[in-house]
Amino acid sequence: MKSLDITRHIPILLESITDFLLEGLLALPETATPGVIIDCTLGGGGHSSNLIEKIKKHPQLMKHRVLGVDRDPDAIARNQVRFKDSIEQGLLEMHHCSFSESLNAVGERPIYGLLADLGISSDQIDSDTRGFSFRFSAPLDMRMNTTRGIPLSEWLKQVSESELADVLWKYGEERLSRKIARKLIDLRAKSQLPSDTLALAEAISSVFPPPMRYKGIHPATRSFQALRIEINEELKELETLISKVFPALASGGHLAILSFHSLEDRLVKEEFKKKEIYTLPHKKPIQADDSEVEENSRSRSAKLRLAVRK
Ligand SMILES: C[S@@+](CC[C@H](N)C(=O)[O-])C[C@H]1O[C@@H](n2cnc3c(N)ncnc32)[C@H](O)[C@@H]1O
Repeated sequence: MKSLDITRHIPILLESITDFLLEGLLALPETATPGVIIDCTLGGGGHSSNLIEKIKKHPQLMKHRVLGVDRDPDAIARNQVRFKDSIEQGLLEMHHCSFSESLNAVGERPIYGLLADLGISSDQIDSDTRGFSFRFSAPLDMRMNTTRGIPLSEWLKQVSESELADVLWKYGEERLSRKIARKLIDLRAKSQLPSDTLALAEAISSVFPPPMRYKGIHPATRSFQALRIEINEELKELETLISKVFPALASGGHLAILSFHSLEDRLVKEEFKKKEIYTLPHKKPIQADDSEVEENSRSRSAKLRLAVRK
């Protein structure tokens, strides 16, 4: 679980995404300026690795580079090992930053493709130090970038009851958002705020009437998702990616956005509706088929939207 060099993340809709990004490169004239494909969410490196293997089969494409971006320092450290050869061959370059800032890493190079596989990786959720999961005791952190911002424990000390309830409602669609917020603020008033993920999950669950506690998903699931989205400003990151980075794509640039939350998917869907800017190879989002869902349950809620910049 703590090993840094082995990823546990299974890439979703792998071939659909990398075939599409490769198609963008293959459509370029041979004389095209060397450019980049940004993998905004390098994570376990699954998509980048597969794309690089495909690029290698076309020597004329090897002048282009995959830019692997991730704001999680552990992901960057892990991929330094995984991609040692590709980095040395100049096929991959890695940047520890938020994808909203990825243009700094691109410089003057044309962007021929972009992938964003939103949310967190299995390496993050399965970690017993990061605080994303209540399957085991972990500190209340939840930051993807542990070098910036404030951990959940600090945020809980300063948030107002109404803001907390709004976050749980907006990002988690948690119907008991107000009651959960009340409970946590009461605990705070008694200096009894939960200090680890298990205690937080327990405090949240205690708000649910017993029949609801044991039915369906764990009662803390929606709240944990909402808190993670808030702590990492995930919606704001996506908005900035759309408003600042999408317009920088070269004409003919291929975009692949994989989202797991309806608010994220809505932002992407609205953007791709702009007919004067994008051509859409598919009207509807692509979803994992039954066999992929069976192998990797996380793929169940994934929605992939593809677009080509005009
Ligand atoms: C779902 S995983 C990506 C998995 C990857 N496609 C693979 O095949 O292994 C998401 C990754 O994106 C990173 N991430 C999420 N939001 C980010 C952001 N705004 N900027 C940079 N990295 C981000 C997370 O730290 C995580 O490692």
